[in-house]
Parts: sequence; structure tokens; C-alpha cells
Amino acid sequence: MIVMSSTPTAPHAAILGIGSYRASIEVPNAEIVDAIDSSDEWIQQRSGIRARRFASPEETIQVMSVGAARKALEHAGVEAVDIDCVIVATVSHLMQTPAIATAIAHELGTDKAPAFDISAACAGFCHGIALASDLVRGGTAGKVLVIGVERLSDITDLTDRGTAFIFADGAGAAVVGASDRPGISPVVWGSDGEQFDLIRQREDWRDVVGSDEHPGSGVMPHLTMQGNPVFRWASFTMAKVANEALAKAGITADDLDVFVPHQANMRIIDAMARSMKLPEHVRIARDIAEQGNTSAASIPLALDAMIASGEARSGDLALLIAFGAGLAYAAQVVVVP
Ligand code: COA
Repeated sequence: MIVMSSTPTAPHAAILGIGSYRASIEVPNAEIVDAIDSSDEWIQQRSGIRARRFASPEETIQVMSVGAARKALEHAGVEAVDIDCVIVATVSHLMQTPAIATAIAHELGTDKAPAFDISAACAGFCHGIALASDLVRGGTAGKVLVIGVERLSDITDLTDRGTAFIFADGAGAAVVGASDRPGISPVVWGSDGEQFDLIRQREDWRDVVGSDEHPGSGVMPHLTMQGNPVFRWASFTMAKVANEALAKAGITADDLDVFVPHQANMRIIDAMARSMKLPEHVRIARDIAEQGNTSAASIPLALDAMIASGEARSGDLALLIAFGAGLAYAAQVVVVP
């Protein structure tokens, strides 16, 4: 029997570098409350958000991604030409095809690296890290660039009371490569399509365009969300997923240094931490207060901020958990680069 040759594999994978791009326009609650008959106090109490950041017209998905990726490459000490695969997690690249990842890979100068987008909403970055880890360990790629990026301001209805104060823009990136010790634990991930409708685009493109019998709305199909069930699901079900991720990594909450949950809502972050009984010494990401919910970008933005402030140090163990539309979720423990 002829035996095909196989790719040499790597024993372990790790995040080698992180970078982020914060959108330039700070939008405090005061600037959005009139359109939704709300108040700064209500928004802070219910979500913990004091301000969010929106991209300027020039800060496209590509511009923010390249900005975050260049910083991640520099942090990792890796040249763009050495990247073997580019994965971009986003739900707000407004062109159905091609994937924005190919344009980003080209601008970075990755020398024709395979590049594709993934759509797992707020869980996208952790999905990307899981894929990158397996690509590296399986020998398919030496180094993978994972980007989480959103311009949710393009698809948020600023007159919708349930979503206008939550969503925001930004990008974060990580370089994943081989390591001599485990740097990314096995992922715990899943989906609950029974709750497909809880967070979604209001209508599909055919409804926007319409037909002779049914005239289209002609307006951008914004995000809609049923806040209450999302809140309950995220606060309780996700704490269990987080504990499973710790177990799969072979550690307990006592071993953790940093907790970086998806920056959806401060009350969800607090409820998860309580439910997991996180010890006092675990430092918790609270980037949402000044950044808003940036979906796929929220975890790398938050982790990068903690590294910059010294709250997360190289070698720390960090639990990442991301969840959102789908509903989709993913969690893993990583060693901070
Ligand atoms: N400003 C002021 N008041 C508002 C409001 C707003 N933007 N939105 C709703 N309200 C009012 C309602 O009118 C209602 O008033 P009433 O009690 O007098 O009838 C009251 O607040 C409660 O409304 P409800 O829709 O039940 O709000 P809530 O307590 O569920 O809070 C969210 C709304 C969105 C803050 C909350 O559901 C939430 O945080 N959900 C999770 C969202 C999230 O994190 N999504 C991202 C997941 S990736």
C-alpha cells in the first residue's frame, strides 16, 4: 500500500502577540439618550456603559483590522510574510462576497496566505482562536493571524431603545503559532439555534429590495435583540460553559489570573463572575464601560487593554469566553503573550 506523506505537526499552540484598534470617535451616553428616550443613569445601571466608540467614515473594517493586526505582529515579533493563514471574525463587513480577509491579508503583505471570514457574531474571536490552534497543531499552518473586527454602528438603529446604547466599533487581533508548552486549551464551544431569533438582522436583503407584490423597506437591515432572554442565557448558561473550559484546561478558578469575558454588558460580566465564584485575585476585564459592545472585537480589545495597563502580564492564565447571536459560544484558557 502506498502511504502518503503527512504534514509535520506542532505539539502545542499559543498566542504569540495581541494588538487592537480603538475607533476614533468617543460617543458618551449623553449623545445618544434623546433618540431613545433614555438617560445616562439608566444606561449605566443596566449595562455599565458610560461611552462607546464609533468609527469615522475612513475607519473601515479593513483599516481597523490592518491597524490591529500590525500591532499584533509587532507584539509577536512576526513578519506579515510569515503568516500562513488569516481568519477574520466579523458580522459587519457589508459586502456578501468576497471575504474582507483577502483584502486585509493583501494589504498586510502576507504573500498570498489563505484568508477567509467566519460568522459567529460575538463568539467569532474565540472560534478563530480555536481554529488557529488546531491549524497550527495539525501542521496546516505555522502562524495564523486571527482578527475580530466590527463596525456595528453601520447596522445599529440609533432610535431602537433595546440596542442603540450597546453596540460599538473596533478591532483586535492575535498571532497564533507553535509553542513548546500548551498556550491555548481545548475549546468548549456550541450553538443553540432554537434561539436563532434572539439577536439577528431584522430582515434579509430580499426583504430590503422587495418585489412587485411586496415592496421592500429600502433601509439598512439593522440588528434587533430580545434583551431579557439574552441576558438570562448569557448570565447563567455561559457561567457553566466557562467552568467547563477551566475543567478542560485542567485548572480551577483559583489558578486563573485574568477573566476576559465578551464585553456584552457589565451586569452579565458580574453575574458570571459571581456564579463562577471567581476568587478575589482574578482580574476581570471591564472594557465595556468606555468601549461598548464590539462583538467579535471585544475580547482582543479588552485583553490588549489589560496587557497595556499591566493588569494582565505575560505568562498569566486568562479565561476567554465569548457568546452572542446564533446563539453561539466558545471558551478557552490561554497563556497571555
Ligand atoms: N432607556 C430607558 N428605559 C428603557 C430602555 C432604554 N434604552 N429600554 C427599555 N426601557 C424601559 C422599558 O420601557 C421598561 O420600563 P417599564 O418597567 O416602565 O415598563 C423597563 O426599562 C424594562 O424594560 P426591559 O425591556 O425589560 O429592559 P431590561 O431590564 O431587560 O434591560 C437590557 C434591557 C437590554 C439592558 C437588558 O435586557 C440586557 O442587558 N440584555 C442583554 C443585552 C446584551 O448584553 N446583549 C449582547 C449580547 S451579545
